[in-house]
Amino acid sequence: MRIYKATDYNDMSRKAANVISAQVTMKPDCVLGLATGSSPIGTYKQLIEWHREGLLDFSQVHTANLDEYKGLTKDNDQSYYYFMYHNFFKDINIDMANTNIPDGTNPDGEAEGARYDQVVRDLGGVDLQLLGLGRNGHIGFNEPDEVFPKGTHCVDLQESTIEANKRFFASADDVPKQAYSMGIQTIMMARKILLIASGEDKAEALYNSLCGPITPHVPGSILQLHQDVVVVADEAALSKFNL
Ligand code: GLP
Repeated sequence: MRIYKATDYNDMSRKAANVISAQVTMKPDCVLGLATGSSPIGTYKQLIEWHREGLLDFSQVHTANLDEYKGLTKDNDQSYYYFMYHNFFKDINIDMANTNIPDGTNPDGEAEGARYDQVVRDLGGVDLQLLGLGRNGHIGFNEPDEVFPKGTHCVDLQESTIEANKRFFASADDVPKQAYSMGIQTIMMARKILLIASGEDKAEALYNSLCGPITPHVPGSILQLHQDVVVVADEAALSKFNL
């Protein structure tokens, strides 16, 4: 595991974008695993800028997103499909047919999980998986639990996650209570993982994930077992580390 310390959110975003840019440049038809939330927005902005400058070509790239709220349609402005389209896809030359996100409108969680895992397998697996980190150590929407969930599955969101994500909704009551998420096995099968974190409120989760015991109570801790993890985090998020 390599940890890169950034000064702040912008520096983290630029450094993370460099890792993704290198991946796309070295393998133009790569599969990128993508994430939502406020952490990757700056990274996407930087990649869009480099694309506009003619430095990055996404025409052969395929993508597979980590998660989606259950019950939200693609045109719902809180869906992760909408997020990805408006924060990234619409501003780069990706073929939308090459983008994949769990289908929040499928009411059958088991069927959707099996379908999505097959999509990822058919792509040949993920080359580079971008990950944010929840304040409770969740990755994707894999919440702290007694076991590590394996494949893509339906998750009951924890109160703390609903609280953290309510800022994107009119009220906490509007936050969906369930989501579809890649499981830990799906995430761990990615050939390379890029974990980003910014801000003091991620410091404890980041420390516990990278330095604490490997336990499903801190889902991010499983990353200690992955052979190729790059962490890009700012000083505030790394404040519990002695770096
Ligand atoms: C959500 C997403 C995660 C994300 C996390 C942190 O729960 N499902 O993929 O990593 O929030 O979000 P943020 O980056 O906004 O702090």
